[in-house]
Amino acid sequence: MSILYDAQAAAFTLHTQNTTYQMQVARTGHLLHLYYGRRTGGDCLDYQYVPMDAGFSPNAYELRYQRTASVDLQPQEYSSENTGDFRLSALEVTLGNGAFGTDLRYKSHAILPGKYRVEGMPAAFAGDGEAETLIITLEDAASHLQVELLYGVFSGKDIITRAARLRNAGTGTITLQKAASMVLDLPFGHWDLLHFHGRHCMERMPQRMPLIRGIQTVASRRGASSHHHNPFVILCDHRCDENHGDCIGLMLVYSGNHRTDVEVDQMSSTRVVMGIHDEQFNWTLAPGEVFHTPEVLLTFSHRGLTALSHTYHRFLRQNIIRSRWNTRQRPVLINNWEATYFNFTAEKILQLAEQAAALGVEMLVLDDGWFGQRNDDNAGLGDWYVNTKKLPGGLDPLIEKINALGMKFGIWVEPEMVSEDSDLYRAHPEWALTVPDRKPVMSRNQLVLDMADPAVIEYLYTQFSALLREHHIEYVKWDMNRNMADVYSHSLPAARQGEVFHRYILGVYGLLERLTSEFPDVLFEGCAGGGGRYDAGMMYYFPQIWCSDDTDAIERMTIQHGTSFGYPISTVGAHVSASPNHQTGRTTPLGTRALVAMAGTFGYELDLGKLTDGEKEQIKEQIQRFHRYYDLIQNGDYYRLTDPQEQSYFNAWEFAAPDGSRALLNLVVTHARANPNGVHFRLKGLDLDALYAVGELHCDGCEVALEERSERLISGSSLMYAGYTLPLMRGDYPCVQMLFVRR
Ligand code: DGJ
Repeated sequence: MSILYDAQAAAFTLHTQNTTYQMQVARTGHLLHLYYGRRTGGDCLDYQYVPMDAGFSPNAYELRYQRTASVDLQPQEYSSENTGDFRLSALEVTLGNGAFGTDLRYKSHAILPGKYRVEGMPAAFAGDGEAETLIITLEDAASHLQVELLYGVFSGKDIITRAARLRNAGTGTITLQKAASMVLDLPFGHWDLLHFHGRHCMERMPQRMPLIRGIQTVASRRGASSHHHNPFVILCDHRCDENHGDCIGLMLVYSGNHRTDVEVDQMSSTRVVMGIHDEQFNWTLAPGEVFHTPEVLLTFSHRGLTALSHTYHRFLRQNIIRSRWNTRQRPVLINNWEATYFNFTAEKILQLAEQAAALGVEMLVLDDGWFGQRNDDNAGLGDWYVNTKKLPGGLDPLIEKINALGMKFGIWVEPEMVSEDSDLYRAHPEWALTVPDRKPVMSRNQLVLDMADPAVIEYLYTQFSALLREHHIEYVKWDMNRNMADVYSHSLPAARQGEVFHRYILGVYGLLERLTSEFPDVLFEGCAGGGGRYDAGMMYYFPQIWCSDDTDAIERMTIQHGTSFGYPISTVGAHVSASPNHQTGRTTPLGTRALVAMAGTFGYELDLGKLTDGEKEQIKEQIQRFHRYYDLIQNGDYYRLTDPQEQSYFNAWEFAAPDGSRALLNLVVTHARANPNGVHFRLKGLDLDALYAVGELHCDGCEVALEERSERLISGSSLMYAGYTLPLMRGDYPCVQMLFVRR
């Protein structure tokens, strides 16, 4: 049993292998949070909360004479407004009489086998016997709003999932103004906030800062989880680093507007509130209706950030990503976007496929521009029929020729968007999100379809299911290239316009649910102008996501490094592109570009016709090498050996087999230096007592010879504790990849 209820103490204890989570029902019926951290014996920790009367912190009515426990001071499990807790609330509600707030008290609980479900939204799933569920129901006596707090305990995985279900059990209509997924109160400790910010072409930059009194917010109001703030944060003890110390991860399984507030209060207690963003949000809950919040994946590590990342990597692979392709070997692909942009013909695409097939590439992906009047990015979105000027005879003749080369065929789509200059918009202007009587803001000169409107979803389902049914398409890149403004649904009444952002995402999820279930063998790759919707919600449908539109290997290292804190390598869409790079103009060796793309799904996105014979030979070898290392890269443990934001000379990362039998070191010199020290690193994840030899060594732009390196046997403990040193590497961006093999 991983969920225990101690009736005498009225305490709930949730144990996972290495963590404990504890709550208690107070005498007043308030649900208090007692603890989340390293696993304890399970005794009730209420002794930690010393009764006290603090000025200006109110008491519940029944405690007005004792004044020993204030809702404003006690750690709460799901906080509410207007009832004496002046810290951040999870819930903001207006009742039928206009009153704000709810006074939530314990009503009942249930402990159930298996994992609860979240209606209409992605959420973790559990194997047989893998999870248990705790449901604690709180109720507001005035309105009969019931809040069911849902806990999924994956004891073997060190993950606790949380979500809330809000049920109007009363007779009057209730309006939700805010409905967060969870609250976590941490009354003790000094925490840093580590979050992942960015912009287009610069996603998921880690930023770590000590918390200060007041409120710090990480959020998106863009209609997508966004390039700008990933819905994933880590609270780290000040002393926590990659290898040591306490840290707590909170990852929202959601792809729309989100908000995480971290408040440090008058007593230095820290409160985290995470969920759907409450701005431009309200939800009308009629009697009997239920609102589900998205889910949060919680984990705690006392062994630093690497262990926390490994927990998430494993969990997302095993309990979030459902695609059959999660465990299948993904094809090495060539994408024509940076090779041709919109300027292609069937012949050009076929030529690219032929060149690629000769090098060992396994799939061609036809990117933007194959449909409607899509000759640039000003027109055509919404018109999902083939442009026969570019592709005479349609898709099939091209697909057949590509298949005849032994390659799969994949295609790009952007279903959620519409161009003003399109047949679809001309027929259905009301299907675009636009505010009546106002000219909409344009972004990439396109509009966003109203995914909150079931008619739009039905139309898109018909279009895209037909596309997949009628053609031999084995891969889909599902793109989404603008954020939302003018958010107004012509399908909803005035009082429900605050529901559009969330209904949009529910519409996307519903459509993806249908398409991915109907076409389970199609490999779907998510994309939103690169990594603008790189979140666990999308991973439920897409086993991989295009990580960034920045394909510059040197910048990509930082983007992929930040991404790795929460998300597995097997989800990272990464390609080798041209040099000089199209985004930065930087020149990098082909080997370095391949090394960086190998820390992902691996593919190519450049005009192969412009390569020399020598470069083509290099590509052949890279693909064979990626195949040899596939299992280690995709299923191995990923280690960040350096921090690209701190390390100014080189970056290094490693994949280690979980049994310590092999480890793949990857290193790129990022800054040429005169007379530097050798390049020194320490490996991780090895078998301490075993001996290792360098089994393979590949370098580009450096002069490290394998012969000198391969013979010597070195112990795992030496490689991990003392490290390894490579000689000086000169020039721009040389790289080394070394396979250490246990003897
Ligand atoms: C943005 C994507 O991230 C690119 O890879 C490419 O597919 C373009 N859209 C096409 O418009």
